[in-house]
Amino acid sequence: MGTLAFTLFWVALGLLILFMAMRVGRRHRATTKASKRLPVVYILGFAAATLLTVAVSAYATLALHDDGGIPSANVENLTAEEQHGQSLFGQRCRNCHTLAAANASAKVGPNLDQLRPPKALVLDAIEKGRSRGNGQMAADLVQGEDAEAVAAFVAKATGAKEPE
Ligand code: HEC
Repeated sequence: MGTLAFTLFWVALGLLILFMAMRVGRRHRATTKASKRLPVVYILGFAAATLLTVAVSAYATLALHDDGGIPSANVENLTAEEQHGQSLFGQRCRNCHTLAAANASAKVGPNLDQLRPPKALVLDAIEKGRSRGNGQMAADLVQGEDAEAVAAFVAKATGAKEPE
């Protein structure tokens, strides 16, 4: 769903209710004494405010849970495994690599956004470690299913083309 349309809809609805409340208040004012007209305006205004609050929190919830995507890095629909990989990356890899999807900007190892390593290469790097002269990456920083998850996440996050 277009989040902009969603927001606009609720803002428009809120404004409409507020407008109606003011109209009712004005009509009311013409026929009643000042002391009696406050509650109607107040109640309708309160209803409008409540609706807006509900709308805003619903919007925030939707935006935050947007299929596990990372809008800032243009990454969509992370699987549960990939999200697990994302959090592992934050713990084990972030200190040395740049990767926008993990909010990482370290420069010890290669920039993974530029390298765009396929899953197999990430797995190989994790399994064997790397020490070709540009610094060191220890082997087995993550293992087994965790390694799979990290590799899946990195490949997905950088949009690496998987070899057939
Ligand atoms: C201590 C710093 C450090 C950590 C932590 C680290 N790396 Fe590295 N990584 C490096 C360095 C340095 C290189 C390049 C080494 C070289 O040129 O031989 C590298 C290379 C790589 C490469 C490229 C391999 C290639 O052959 O081109 C990938 C992919 C990679 N790392 C992924 C990861 C992942 C995933 C993690 C977390 C599990 C991780 N790294 C953790 C330092 C690190």
